[in-house]
Amino acid sequence: MIRLFVNVDHVATIREARKTIEPSPLKAALLAEKAGAQGITIHLREDRRHIQDDDVRIIRKGINTPLNLEMAPTEEMVKLALEILPYQISLVPEKRQEITTEGGLEICSQEKSLAEIGEKMHDRGILFSLFVDPDAKQLDAAKRIKADSIEINTGKYTELESAEEVEEELERIRVSAKRAAEMGLKVFAGHGLNYQNVKKIAAIPEIEELNIGHFIIGQAIYKGMENAVTEMIRSIKTGRGQ
Ligand code: PXP
Repeated sequence: MIRLFVNVDHVATIREARKTIEPSPLKAALLAEKAGAQGITIHLREDRRHIQDDDVRIIRKGINTPLNLEMAPTEEMVKLALEILPYQISLVPEKRQEITTEGGLEICSQEKSLAEIGEKMHDRGILFSLFVDPDAKQLDAAKRIKADSIEINTGKYTELESAEEVEEELERIRVSAKRAAEMGLKVFAGHGLNYQNVKKIAAIPEIEELNIGHFIIGQAIYKGMENAVTEMIRSIKTGRGQ
């Protein structure tokens, strides 16, 4: 079974639209857990557009499953991660003006500084993951800097329209998943996944963990958080042939 980590950032997006206290990302996270999510993901962005520093502390203490903290490789975020001690950090590239994470991390040009972050996390027992495009160069670099896992960026796969291009991108993801697993990296995936497009990703045997946020939170508006998560788990299982 693939583990589903539910990203609750966009519960905070709605709250921050009014700078108030509801809806609560912690309450949403607890409902996701109740529905079977095996972990919770949050991204503390430099501009604090959704998740706030206190959310990280409150969610870390309040949830019953592992916390995956997505963050940019900056000094500020490293300091916070070492204070909060999440189960895992996932390094992502961050641009101020982007609507969401636009691509994987460029590891090759900053191996030394990323390796130092990984070492600090490992010293405190925190797993060290890197969000990467399905590109052999980046996977090899992730291995060199001793990442525990890579999360393959499925964003492009979920955005392409022609069936041929979708298949080509899927093949790149499959090949990358295999290459990473053969090197001993754990393989995760995420970005832009929904009930339909998740199935072909879930069918890739090396993938152990999925991070899904925006679509689940959107569906939760119609049918509630638990139903939205339950249905995603059903799609993942269907894709996996379970
Ligand atoms: N993985 C990473 C690294 C991300 O930055 C995001 C978005 O925060 C996701 C997964 C989840 O993407 P989505 O919200 O499109 O499901």
